[in-house]
Amino acid sequence: MSDIPVITVDGPSGSGKGTISRQIAHQLQWHFLDSGALYRLVALGAMKSGIELGHEAGLADYARGLEVRFVSDDPTEEPIILLDNQDVTADIRTETCGNAASKAAALPAVRQALLQRQRGFLQSPGLVADGRDMGTTVFPAARLKIFLTASAEERAKRRHKQLKEKGIDVNLAALVKDIAERDQRDGSRASSPLKPADGAVILDTSIMGIDEVMAKVNALISEMMPDTK
Ligand code: DC
Repeated sequence: MSDIPVITVDGPSGSGKGTISRQIAHQLQWHFLDSGALYRLVALGAMKSGIELGHEAGLADYARGLEVRFVSDDPTEEPIILLDNQDVTADIRTETCGNAASKAAALPAVRQALLQRQRGFLQSPGLVADGRDMGTTVFPAARLKIFLTASAEERAKRRHKQLKEKGIDVNLAALVKDIAERDQRDGSRASSPLKPADGAVILDTSIMGIDEVMAKVNALISEMMPDTK
């Protein structure tokens, strides 16, 4: 078991975990794992290669051989993501790809195929891991486990605003429905369902701004990892 410290940040989409976990990584100057991007890459690559989303063995093979590079200068920003040397940064963030990722992620062989790759992100001086099962399955020995949540309505509003900023107009009611369906699938699957890890600190971000959440997270880091700068 490695001594390199890990902070896990799990939660449903729109809970703010991407923003918060990137800020923690930036602040501590630690490495960062966006595990959702890996599931999105598997779904996108499989769709491009004509592999059906229900073909578990085919998807798992594809996941094992995934040729991906994260190119980043600034850990607070999303890196450029190259799949087979092609820039897919925007392609993996669509609702279609998110839904396909959620379906692929329900398949145990796909999760197993990505397990070691995710653990490979653990490098000195530390790792902040963002996902659904970081604290329960991938890094169960993490020093600090955070579970961020927010109401489905609030998460849909945030997603709506993000998409609007990108010039994409999506119906809010459709987004609420989509998010509720994705929550149901991610939370009810047999293999590593979305749920707070034992010992996780649960923060409801429905009525908290980013600064407030970061203040709570920093207090937790000082309390539980006093040796961390
Ligand atoms: O965090 P995200 O929206 O980019 O993740 C996309 C999908 O991938 C999400 O619906 C569920 C799945 N996922 C997962 O099952 N386990 C993870 N650790 C991360 C994401």
